[in-house]
Amino acid sequence: MTAHTALYTVDPLGQEDAALLRGVADLLVVAFPTIYAGDVTQALADVVQFAPEDRSLVARDSDGAPIGWLRMEHFKGQVSAEIKLVAVHPTRRHQGVGRTLVMAAEERMRANGCITMLATVGDTRGRTNLYGVDVTEDAPRLLAAFACHTDHPAGFFLEIGYRLVGLLPDAYGPGKHDLTLARRITKD
Ligand SMILES: CC(C)(COP(=O)(O)OP(=O)(O)OC[C@H]1O[C@@H](n2cnc3c(N)ncnc32)[C@H](O)[C@@H]1OP(=O)(O)O)[C@@H](O)C(=O)NCCC(=O)NCCS
Repeated sequence: MTAHTALYTVDPLGQEDAALLRGVADLLVVAFPTIYAGDVTQALADVVQFAPEDRSLVARDSDGAPIGWLRMEHFKGQVSAEIKLVAVHPTRRHQGVGRTLVMAAEERMRANGCITMLATVGDTRGRTNLYGVDVTEDAPRLLAAFACHTDHPAGFFLEIGYRLVGLLPDAYGPGKHDLTLARRITKD
């Protein structure tokens, strides 16, 4: 089902439309400049790899151009699913596109029997107060005092109702953790 708003639509991203896949790759390069460093070929390989039906959603503007992309995972037998990546074009941020993509993902996973959605975000650039900290000593206290800079995506997930439930210490290097946020999707 297509999710409609006045300004854009959200649909599953299939493998068939080469121009659309390329457009999403261009979007990823702009959204993650340090990861892709302009490498559209790598971005396209990632989009194609992760674009099976029902696991990836694209937001398109009224001209059909991609302005947002979300990738999720749901393993058979589990009742939690995970948002692995959500990206909105810099010129279209703070207009509700990210929230709409997340809500569309939640709706699809709810229909698959999931009760909880997870989202994982890393901090490799010192944008949270856990950066550089040895979190193995007292994780509960540190999680309770969590704070992040306004450009870190944890703030986005907290704003739309997710809560910090855990972390993967030193995932990307000493003091560079992966943070896990979650929301029960069986209630509003
Ligand atoms: C994170 C991201 C997807 C948010 O997309 P967006 O379309 O700008 O988000 P929305 O407009 O739907 O924002 C929903 C709410 O969260 C708030 N918000 C958005 N980004 C925020 C941030 N970084 N910190 C705090 N609040 C934020 C918005 O102000 C809005 O609040 P409101 O409902 O009170 O107006 C976008 O900033 C992005 O693509 N970032 C780069 C890629 C990235 O880091 N992705 C996440 C890791 S995979």
